[in-house]
Amino acid sequence: MTRHSSVIAQCRNRDGNDPIFIWNGEARARAAAGDDILNATIGALMNDDGTLAGLPTVIDTLRELTTSKVGGYAPISGLPAYRDAVLHDLFGDSPLVNQATAVAAPGGSGAVYAAVVNFLDLGQKMLVPEFFWGPYREITNHSRRGLDPFTMFDEDGAFDIAGMTAAMDRHLETQGRVLLVLNFPCHNPTGYSLSEDEWKQITDAIHAAGQHGPVTVMIDAAYMEFAGSESRDWVQYVPRMLEHATVLVAWTASKSMAQYGSRIGAIVGLHADPGELSQIDNALGYSARATWSNSPHLGQLAVTQLLTDPTLSAAVAEERGQLMGLLQTRIDAFNARSSELELPTPRFDAGFFVAVFTSDQDRTAAAMRELGVYVIPIPGAVRVAVCSTPESTIERLTQALQAGLAAAR
Ligand SMILES: Cc1ncc(COP(=O)(O)O)c(C=O)c1O
Repeated sequence: MTRHSSVIAQCRNRDGNDPIFIWNGEARARAAAGDDILNATIGALMNDDGTLAGLPTVIDTLRELTTSKVGGYAPISGLPAYRDAVLHDLFGDSPLVNQATAVAAPGGSGAVYAAVVNFLDLGQKMLVPEFFWGPYREITNHSRRGLDPFTMFDEDGAFDIAGMTAAMDRHLETQGRVLLVLNFPCHNPTGYSLSEDEWKQITDAIHAAGQHGPVTVMIDAAYMEFAGSESRDWVQYVPRMLEHATVLVAWTASKSMAQYGSRIGAIVGLHADPGELSQIDNALGYSARATWSNSPHLGQLAVTQLLTDPTLSAAVAEERGQLMGLLQTRIDAFNARSSELELPTPRFDAGFFVAVFTSDQDRTAAAMRELGVYVIPIPGAVRVAVCSTPESTIERLTQALQAGLAAAR
C-alpha cells in the first residue's frame, strides 16, 4: 500500500469516467442480464435494432483511403485541403472564408479545449447557458479555468437574452474578457434551436458588448447538420458579430458523418483583422502541438473527399437524410405524446436530445430506472436521448417520464 499519493491534490478523487457512460454501462449490464431496458442515455444515433447508424459512403471512403500513406503524420494544424474543406463546408464561397482559419482537432471536444486555453486566462470562466453539455465543466476545470452558467430560458420559454447580456457585461467588468458558448442549432441537452429573432438579438448583444472589451463567441456546431435546411442560418449573423468580436466554431464530423470514434474535428477562428487572425491561427496550432499534436490523418483525408467531391457529398447528404427521417419520426412521436401528457420540455424541433424539466432530477431518473428506463439526470432536468430510442418505445419512454416527474413532486 502506498502511503503517499503522487497524484497532485487537485487531480485526486476525480471520476475517470463521464456520468453518461456510467449510466449507459448500468443500462447495458441490466439488459445483458435479461431485464427489459429502454436505454435513452446514448448520445449517438442508433438504428431501431440498437446498432449504430452509419453512413455507408463514409465507411467506403475510409476503407478506400486506408493505405500506408495514412500511417504518416498529417501537419500539426491539419492537411491544408482539409482545413479549406471545413471552411467551405461552413461558409460556402462567402467572403467569410477569407476571414477564417480552421485548425484540425480531435473532434469537437478538442476544438472546445483549444478555445478554452486560448481565449481565457487561468482562473477565468466560460459563459454557457445553464443547461449545457457536461464536458464543458471538465474541460474548463482541467485547464484551470471555470464555467459560469446563466439562466437559459425566460418565463415564456424563450432564450434568456437579457440574462446572457448581463452575464457578458459582468464578465467584461470582473475578468476583462468574455468567452460565450452557443451550442446551436439542436442544443444538447435541451433540443432547443434559436429563432431568427433570437439570433438577431444575440448578435446585437455581442456587437454591443464587443465595444467594451475582448468578446469571443464560440458556436459549438456539433449537431448543426441535423437542423436540415436551417443548419447554417446562424452564419448570416457572423459578419455583424465580427465587427466587434472574435467568432469561433467547433466543427466535428462525429455526428454529421456518424464518425464518433474517428475523432475528426476542427476549431475555426474568425476575425476581421488579418493580423489578429494570424495570431489566432498560430495560437491554435501551438495548442495542437502541445496536446494531441497531429490529428488523425485518415479521417482528414476522408472528410476532405467527402466534403469536396460532389458525388460523394451528395451521397452523404442522401444517407444522412434517411437517418434524419428516422430521427424525425421519433421527435414527432415524442412531441405528440409529451404534449398530451403535458411534460415540461423546451421547443424541440430537431436534434439528438430533449430535456424534460424536473425539480429533482435524481429522483426522477431513479424512479424511471425502477421502470427499466434510463435517462441522464442533469441539474434541473433529465436528458432524453431520442437519437437512441425507436419510435415504438416512445410511449413507454413518455409514460416513464410522467411517473418520474410524479416521484419528484
Ligand atoms: C454539445 C457538444 N459539443 C461537442 C461535442 C464533441 O463531440 P466530439 O468530440 O465527439 O466531436 C459533443 C459530443 O457529444 C456535444 O454534444
